Amino acid sequence: MAVALIVAAGSGERLGAGRPKAFVSLAGRPMLAWSLDAIRAAGISEIVVALPPTEDAPSGTVGVPGGATRSESVRAALAAAPPGDVVVHDAARPLVTPDAFTATLAALADADCAIAAAPVPDTIKEAGEDRFVSATLDRSRLWAIQTPQAFRADVLRKALAAGEDVLAQATDDAWLVERAGGTVRVVESPAANFKVTTPHDLALADSLLC
Ligand code: CTP
Ligand code: MG
Repeated sequence: MAVALIVAAGSGERLGAGRPKAFVSLAGRPMLAWSLDAIRAAGISEIVVALPPTEDAPSGTVGVPGGATRSESVRAALAAAPPGDVVVHDAARPLVTPDAFTATLAALADADCAIAAAPVPDTIKEAGEDRFVSATLDRSRLWAIQTPQAFRADVLRKALAAGEDVLAQATDDAWLVERAGGTVRVVESPAANFKVTTPHDLALADSLLC
């Protein structure tokens, strides 16, 4: 049995909506509600949500206070999780589909961690501070990383035992597994599972969900 950990404790500074991003109204419901629907449709009923201080846990979920960084919020949610494989998801990705949860959890059969990711459509170049290009990367090997990210619980627990300085650097949990020597697989996911970061993203998500 798998448990879903949703991180919803961020303040949403870049969105600037005046309340924590996961609770901003999106197509008539709190943003978080869309991810909860997808998780439940994937057959996952155990859900722990890391929350900002001002918000209550949605019904049918276990709420925990979030941390100062995203990784600390994941760690707080994991501490409250029942045993079983774990799938971590950002509340800021409301267009996620149930399939992303089932596919990442299934891919744990041959990896310590499996992460939703979209092929990169653009040409990616590296440039120095002087803006002169130093390399053009092989796009066929590049993936834009999303959530959900699925883990064996003991692997995630060990990865999150890193110091606070390391946790503060982590932009996803899979990186913590990589640096601990674990195996990480990508599972192809549509670019439509984007993260709502700016007002433009919110308007786009709203038009897609209405
Ligand atoms: N998150 C969290 N705890 C934190 C920081 C972030 O649970 N201390 C969650 C957010 O709620 C979000 C996800 O991590 O669902 C991805 O983070 P991000 O998109 O950066 O959201 P915010 O941190 O809220 O936004 P911003 O960085 O613009 O303030
Ligand atoms: Mg943030």
